[in-house]
Order: sequence, then structure tokens, then C-alpha cells
Amino acid sequence: MIYTPEMLASMKKVEAAREANIALEPRRLTAEEKEALLKQYHPDYRDDGFTTIQVGPNKGEKAPLELNAMLEAHSRLTDAKVDLTKIDYDVDVLVIGGGGAGSSAAIEAHEAGANVMIVTKLRIGDANTMMAEGGIQAADKPGDSPAQHYLDVMGGGHYANRPELVRKLVMEGPGAIKWLNELGVEFDKAEDGTMITTHGGGTSRKRMHAAADYSGAEIMRTLRDEVLNRQIPVVDFTAAIELILDTDGKVAGAVLQNMETGELLVARAKTVVIATGGAGRMHYQGFPTSNHYGATADGLILGYRAGAKLLYQDTLQYHPTGVAFPQQIFGALVTEKVRSMGAKLINSEGEAYIHPLETRDVNAAGVIRECTTNGKGVDTGMGKAVWLDTPMIDRIHGKGTLEKRLPAMLRMYLKYGIDMREVPILIYPTLHYQNGGLEITEDGQTCVKNLYVAGEAVGGIHGRNRLMGNSLLDIIVFGRNAGQHAAASAKETQLKELTLSHVDKYEAELKAAGIDSDAVSPKLLPTYARGAKAF
Ligand code: FUM
Repeated sequence: MIYTPEMLASMKKVEAAREANIALEPRRLTAEEKEALLKQYHPDYRDDGFTTIQVGPNKGEKAPLELNAMLEAHSRLTDAKVDLTKIDYDVDVLVIGGGGAGSSAAIEAHEAGANVMIVTKLRIGDANTMMAEGGIQAADKPGDSPAQHYLDVMGGGHYANRPELVRKLVMEGPGAIKWLNELGVEFDKAEDGTMITTHGGGTSRKRMHAAADYSGAEIMRTLRDEVLNRQIPVVDFTAAIELILDTDGKVAGAVLQNMETGELLVARAKTVVIATGGAGRMHYQGFPTSNHYGATADGLILGYRAGAKLLYQDTLQYHPTGVAFPQQIFGALVTEKVRSMGAKLINSEGEAYIHPLETRDVNAAGVIRECTTNGKGVDTGMGKAVWLDTPMIDRIHGKGTLEKRLPAMLRMYLKYGIDMREVPILIYPTLHYQNGGLEITEDGQTCVKNLYVAGEAVGGIHGRNRLMGNSLLDIIVFGRNAGQHAAASAKETQLKELTLSHVDKYEAELKAAGIDSDAVSPKLLPTYARGAKAF
């Protein structure tokens, strides 16, 4: 056992209170209590984490410091020459990003007969989709309905969600599950073949469909197979570093850069889908992250420089249960499914201080309160943490349940000598999701003609806080939607001369605002080594 004596002393209190805590139903917080908790402890409410945007379509609005630094950075083309008459790739639909949203978009564009290509700075499947664990929501069971799902999504998002996008999300949820099931996703099913579904934080019905605790990997496996089976071209290890417009102001492709050789390439496209995913590797406010290595908000920068608007760029999701110990997996995701299966959040004194399925923002704020003001955190050597009492799961559902339903999580901890069936684990919030992103209309299009966005790079679907399982759903619903509309628009589109004048205009705006940055963006990859130069 690698827990320290201090951890073991606190753990004894957790064990002593376990039976009582299993029986206890912590009361739900009132709306006023939640608001007060969020205002005091949630990182989105910390003024020192934000600044005011000085250039571009969202000038005057609030943004995280780290994102704003990328908005104020120079184009990677500032010192490079690119010949827009030399076309390396010529397609109808260019999909930027090889995760779940990009793959879904590409599949549908291909299905509609478009000449579609995926470009990705890493490899297809190196994406947050692959990292998703707990499941995908959809109201497809008796006793549930899209209307019920709609209310949950809106409530979870603090009613800031774009209603027309939420409507689409929930109405097309059951069809998304059917599509994935037919493509070959191995969802957890009961012996009679019906889907096993569970609750997530903020859900009023059990509508979380899962593939054990590697739901995203299973979905990504299936989508990647479909992309490859259809022989959709995938250009990997190649980043989009700037969008190209035509002289009418429509999107017309992207400048690409080979990640190994640095070579610049021109992809001309009648329509473009940004599906670049999230931003965990921006490490907002110094938080660790559950995100994959390439999650650096690239699509937001590309779209913004081309004139697309951001929405809710000031709201991030800190998953309440990131690994706090051991250090080797600091910040990794401990799926919400652990709590939906009965494990409770317990402070250093053995108290079940909050309902485990309050929404994520509320539970993240609750963990931070216990570890700061309340002084009921456990020292991990890297900060404070609270317990997630995982042995409760087998105690409630019977021996063997945790191993069957959470096999990947169990294996991850066993590697470090922690058997989560026997001992609780230490958790602290981890940067998990970008609630905001580029603003779209119902067809997935930004205010830049023919520029579509899907997946985590979109803002507005989830308001100011996403519920578990609605991200895997949105990458499918809005990925497919963007692919279908992008393919249809491509059929109607005639491109004029290609231009990068918007990049020059943006640079001029930076200069006029007196911004003097030595950074370049999009970031593409995080830089962890001291003194390392960004690619
Ligand atoms: O906790 C989780 O398994 C995460 C799911 C999600 O972000 O949707």
C-alpha cells in the first residue's frame, strides 16, 4: 500500500463511517446554495484567471488568460511564405480533426457523395473521444423522453444553452445510439438484449449508455474502422495552422503544416469542418487535465482569426474526480460512473459532505471548499484531496461489480498498488471540458460562410456546464449534422481566388491595439520541458 501514514489515518475514519455513509442520502443543495458554492469556489468565478479580449469578434468579452494569450499571438505564417496557387489537396469537404466529431462528419459527408478528407495533427483517434469513459446519454428507454432530457441539459447548463441546439441534441439522441449500435459499438446490454443504462450527475432518468468504463474508446474504435473501411483519406501528423478564405469571404480551405518536416501545404476545400476538440492542455489556472495530448484549443484560434465568433469562452469544466494520488497519473479521469454506481465523496473526517451526483461544477466547487476553507482535505504531497469511497460499489451491488463495470479504472489503480475495491481513492478536480467554443447555427455553420464546427470546439450546446455523457452524444449528433450540411453546401459552392488577407487584417488589429506578443498560435502541442521551444 502506497498511502502515507496521514492518508491511512484518514482512511480509517472513512472505513469506520462506511456503513453509515452508504445508508445516508446526502440532501440535494438548493439553487441558492449551489450558486453560493459556485461563486465562492468554482474556478470560472476567479477574476484573476481571466482578462478582457482586445481584438476580433468578441472584443470586450472575458476569456481565460491562457486562451487570450493565444488570441493575441501571431500567426504561424507571419514569417513564412505560402503560395496559394500551388494546391496540394483539392476536396469538397475538409475535416480538421480526427476524433469522434471529425470522423462522424467525414462519414456523413462521404455518405452524401462528397470528396472528403480528414487532416489531423496527431493520428485519427488521438482525441478526447478516446479518453471518454462513463457513457453517452440518449432518452431511448420507456419512462424517459427527449423532453425530459432537454430539461436536464438546460438545468445543468444554467439555462444558458442555445435552445435550438439542445433540442437537436436530445431529439437526435436515440437515433445516434441506433447509428452507433448498427456500426458495431458494443454497448453494455442485459441478457435480453436491452441496453443497460445508469444515472449521471444532474440526470433525472437512467439514460447513460456505456461500454464498461471505456465507452469513448469503443465508439472511437468503431468510427475509425468506418472511416478506414470507406477509404476516406486521412492526412495525419499534419496540423491546420490557418484557414484560407476566398475573395468573397467564404472559407476555402486551410494552410497545413507537416508536424515532422515543417513543410507547408495548401488544402483547397469548398467547405471546412472544424472538429479540433478541447483545450485541457492549456492548463487553465494551472489545473491538471484529463485531456489527450493535443487538446490545445486550435480550432477556436483558426476560426476566430477568420472572423467566427466565440460563445461562452469563459466557461470551463473541471471534472470533480480527477486522480489526486499517485503522482504518476495526476489529473487522469476517474469516471463519474464510479459515483453513479454508488461511491460517495468523503472528506478527511469521514463525512459524506455532498450528494455525489450534484452537477459537475457544483461537485468540483464542493471538493475545493473541503480542501480549502473547510480544512477537510487529505495531504497528497501535491496538494489536498478528498476521498471517493470506491469499496461502496461492491458493498452495494455485490462482489465483482466494480471489476465488471469499471475494469479499466481498476487496472489503472492496480498498476500503482491501489486496489480500489478494497480502499478508497483520492481525487481533486481536473480540467476536463471546454464548455464554450465557436458559435454555430442549427446547421453547424459559423458566421463565416461554409465554415462548420462540430464537437468540443462548439459553444452553446451545453450552456455553462455540461452533463456527463452529453459530449459523446454531441460529437455524434453535431458531427453527423456538420458533415451532412457541409457536403450539401459544397455542391452549391464555386470558389473564387484564395486569400489570407484576413490573417494580415488580424495582425494589423493586434498592432493597432498595441499588443506585443512573442507567442504564435494555434498552440498545437503543449510544452512541458523547461526551456523548451514551442513547435
Ligand atoms: O466521468 C466521465 O466518465 C466523463 C464523461 C463525460 O465527460 O461525458
